Amino acid sequence: MRWHVFLLVALNLPSSLVAAPEVLPTFTKPTLIAHRGASADAPEHTLAAYELALKQGADFVEPDLQLTKDGVLVCLHDSSLERTTNVAEVFPDRAKEVKGKKTWPVADFTLAEIQKLDAGSWKAAKFAGAKVPTFQQMIDAVKGKAGIIPETKASESQGKVGMNLEKALMEVLKTNKLDARGADPKTPVIVQSFSADSLRALRKDCGCKLPLVYLIRDEDGAAQKLQRRLKEIREFADGIAPHKAIVLAQPGLVKDAHDLGLSVTVWTFRVGLTGKFKDVREEMAYYLRELKVDAVFTDHPDRFPRE
Ligand code: G3P
Ligand code: CA
Repeated sequence: MRWHVFLLVALNLPSSLVAAPEVLPTFTKPTLIAHRGASADAPEHTLAAYELALKQGADFVEPDLQLTKDGVLVCLHDSSLERTTNVAEVFPDRAKEVKGKKTWPVADFTLAEIQKLDAGSWKAAKFAGAKVPTFQQMIDAVKGKAGIIPETKASESQGKVGMNLEKALMEVLKTNKLDARGADPKTPVIVQSFSADSLRALRKDCGCKLPLVYLIRDEDGAAQKLQRRLKEIREFADGIAPHKAIVLAQPGLVKDAHDLGLSVTVWTFRVGLTGKFKDVREEMAYYLRELKVDAVFTDHPDRFPRE
């Protein structure tokens, strides 16, 4: 229970006598985030995956964002195209060599070139011809039906924090009238990043008033480091999104974060990575009901444990 609600109940006061909390809650109920769309059943970050996520009841749909050579935001997890498209067949001579391996960076290709690629066949033949969507196409598919939680990926991989991606993101959101909290109640927007600099740039340089969530990887000592950093994180974010192993190792983090007004989102719930739990539904239920996290990222929106 949030402190202001507790106060109302404990003192039996009408809501008008108690000041609203300084920070609006980022999530208002246990929340289902479709990770890269319904990515277990459809090719990640395609319109097919986003549309399936909506059918499966997602509260939010996640696009990871990268910038093309000509400055357009596209939805793609990797900073290169080869894992999820047929770029190696279409543009065999455009590879770069990094550590002895060929790679095709998104930032080397224009939107027109990227739209020639098949982003569905790698998953299954029935998805052949699926395209890498632009962020605008993603918004068109989801707006009015669910929330959107874009992740600023390229700012990390391209080392251009605040120069390109954050501005482009805010411009697209503004064009769609989604750049303010509550602008479209059917389509709340939350921005997430592993890069504190990206979130700081959004808030300071771009004047972003949307809720910001800071992603944290599972690495040595992550839980202890995070515990020490909560107050510092509160300066540039409204929520934390630790890997689920961090919260399992130190469940007290959830209350500590909540006490500071930070929401807690965990990732990523998928079949085959459920640890001690019977299945992915039971695993998500444990995190939401026992550990009291606010939201979960899952590849399986259809297995979210609704009450
Ligand atoms: O953004 C939450 C989760 O998606 C982070 O991991 O690598 O799938 O973007 P990743
Ligand atoms: Ca992500």
